[in-house]
Amino acid sequence: MLDRRVRITGAGSYVPPHSVSNEELCAVFNAWAEASGTKVDGPSSPEFIEKVSGIRSRYLWDKSGVLSIDRMCPDIPDRPDDEVSVQAEFALASARRAIEDAGVAPESIDMVVVGASSLQRPYPAIAIEVQAELGASGFALDVSVGCSSGVYAIQIARDAIAQGRATCALVCVPEIPSAYTNFRDRDSHFILGDASAAVIVEADKPGYEILASKLVSRFSNNVRNNCGFLNRCDADKRGDADKLFYQQGRRVFRDIVKLVPLVIEMQLDEHRLTASDVGRFWLHQANARLNAAIGERLVGTSANGRLPTVLETHANTAAAGALVTFDQHRDGLRPGDYGVLCAFGAGYTAGSLLLRLHA
Ligand code: COA
Repeated sequence: MLDRRVRITGAGSYVPPHSVSNEELCAVFNAWAEASGTKVDGPSSPEFIEKVSGIRSRYLWDKSGVLSIDRMCPDIPDRPDDEVSVQAEFALASARRAIEDAGVAPESIDMVVVGASSLQRPYPAIAIEVQAELGASGFALDVSVGCSSGVYAIQIARDAIAQGRATCALVCVPEIPSAYTNFRDRDSHFILGDASAAVIVEADKPGYEILASKLVSRFSNNVRNNCGFLNRCDADKRGDADKLFYQQGRRVFRDIVKLVPLVIEMQLDEHRLTASDVGRFWLHQANARLNAAIGERLVGTSANGRLPTVLETHANTAAAGALVTFDQHRDGLRPGDYGVLCAFGAGYTAGSLLLRLHA
């Protein structure tokens, strides 16, 4: 069973309808800072954001709550238990596109993995709800390892397919980081955006063969979100800013720019390949300068179309970013071409898949 050729046979992605520009985000941040008398090092500026990150806008699940000075947090009403949950609904939107792209019947899916940097609840797993909504069989699970969650989830699906424990796996990455963004933090209010992505993983069908995967983790305190089930047990601290996303951006940049090329190069080396043999790199979308620096280390200045990005319009969509980029920038590769799908982020974690297109 272990010699089955495991392939990504379809992909899909979805964003909420509301796009929010840097100008809109800065306007509400600056108005709030002035009205509240909060001391900041100067106004937040759209030009700074675009210069340091390449981001011009992002899609948000709810725009009005974020842009309301009294709230500055998405307005996402709680739902009764007999309605599909928000994160499962988001997962299903991209899942249906991936299912259509792969040309599979939803009932033929016998494994569902939801990978996301944050999960709406501990249980029942979001993946089990997605499984039920689709009429899929088999088993389902959630996995969460920061922005590498999607690649780790694909690797879990790949193992299950290779070992014959499943025949058709759906991996969904529904990310709603606007819900854990601190829109009152000048350093990070612009970084994240919402998006959902999904892939279908099967054996012995045309698609992107997963030739190898490399998963790496190294503990770091530089990107954190301390939201969790113990928060309610310390009433004095549960509303603190560390229960949302925060980071030491410069340190993250410095560490990741070294770690990621190393992981990719090790993986390619194990297959007697170099970065110049790779037709496309679908990287985690954290920051345009970071991705450009990684590209430069890998392939010099000739990276051009080989490292596509969606940062300008989507911002950092956490674990969805690499898969959204894969979904939107697959054209132009020919059978036999190699690609690398690599996610990285908090933890630190990195997950890299070496792919090869098969007709
Ligand atoms: N508007 C205007 N100026 C701002 C600002 C804002 N919103 N936020 C910060 N600044 C200012 C700072 O006050 C600082 O001013 P100073 O030089 O006078 O002290 C200056 O801009 C530089 O701030 P810094 O935070 O050091 O910016 P940076 O160049 O490191 O860029 C990041 C910030 C976050 C974009 C960058 O560090 C980064 O991309 N890091 C990697 C993050 C990442 O990939 N995380 C992964 C999560 S998965």
